[in-house]
Amino acid sequence: MKAKICVTLALLAVPVLAHAETPWWATPTLQIGLPADLSRNVTQGEDVARNEVYPTVPDSVPEIIRKGRNGNGICMGCHLPSGLGQPQSAPLAGLPEAYFIRTMHDLKGGDRGAYRPNMVDFAKGLADDEIKAAATYYASLKSAPWIKVQESDTAPKLFVATREIPAAVPGGGDMPLGIRIVELRTDLVKPYHPPGPAFIAYVPKGSVARGAALVKGGGGKTVACTTCHGANLLGAGDVPAIAGRSALHNARQLFEFQDGTRHGAAAEPMKAVVAHLGEADIVAISAYLASRPPV
Ligand code: HEC
Ligand code: HEC
Repeated sequence: MKAKICVTLALLAVPVLAHAETPWWATPTLQIGLPADLSRNVTQGEDVARNEVYPTVPDSVPEIIRKGRNGNGICMGCHLPSGLGQPQSAPLAGLPEAYFIRTMHDLKGGDRGAYRPNMVDFAKGLADDEIKAAATYYASLKSAPWIKVQESDTAPKLFVATREIPAAVPGGGDMPLGIRIVELRTDLVKPYHPPGPAFIAYVPKGSVARGAALVKGGGGKTVACTTCHGANLLGAGDVPAIAGRSALHNARQLFEFQDGTRHGAAAEPMKAVVAHLGEADIVAISAYLASRPPV
């Protein structure tokens, strides 16, 4: 999407930035040139947890989720065995089956992109019956409290390890937060050991109240989210739940509706919703949503 936007801007030679691209902080990507041991500690710790937990996942879970295709695209590798997800992937537990199937087809057919393009490749590799089996399975899982929202002027200094894992720099102290969300594991292996919270979302001071006003009444910039996402923002019909989900994930989705990464017919209602939201609005909305109960 980035390339397309650059081309458009170059052609028009005017800075039409109402639909700016997804900001860097919402898309954790591996930092090249890290001291190797910094990243290795994170992934080795995670491997220990995986080796403990993966064997306990029952055979009744669809094979594609447990094993992927030839060991590649193992759904539970990024979305976790609980399906509760991580800021660098997406929460899948409790997604409505119809939404899951539609969005997988959007990923396959090009109506939805992803900042990690391998998710698009995984979708393209799935047969319809595998999509259906995965959708039924994830719809059967319950969401649960997973994110603690912390208003703050600072956040731990962070780096992005292999597997796109945002992690605190050991002994690195704090950094100014600015207008963004920093979402980190409470500890290295907690995501593998529900119940949560397994993540802390650091958000700017005042975000939750500001987000509440936008979500409930639109604040003159958008429309009340409850109209489509349900009174408690827990979804309605094939519209997904947005309460109690990763703040970073939700923020990224809102930017992706804005910048066109998510387009096509299914994205139309959301395009209007995000059209007049600025970066600080999206931070506030996502902070408020993450602070709400997920069930
Ligand atoms: C290497 C990591 C990775 C693996 C493996 C992976 N995913 Fe994903 N998945 C992602 C990322 C990243 C996103 C979010 C993309 C974005 O925000 O742009 C995502 C998003 C999704 C979504 C959209 C959720 C929503 O809220 O709209 C679904 C559904 C999904 N994945 C299903 C699957 C299935 C099924 C598998 C196994 C076949 C799988 N994923 C394997 C990384 C992964
Ligand atoms: C007119 C109906 C409508 C309204 C109003 C609406 N939404 Fe949505 N929303 C949808 C639909 C439909 C989808 C699924 C889009 C798709 O399939 O790509 C969606 C998807 C989303 C997603 C992506 C979820 C995920 O996990 O991928 C987020 C985040 C979201 N909406 C947030 C909001 C917020 C915040 C508001 C209020 C400011 C809002 N929506 C208002 C209809 C609506």
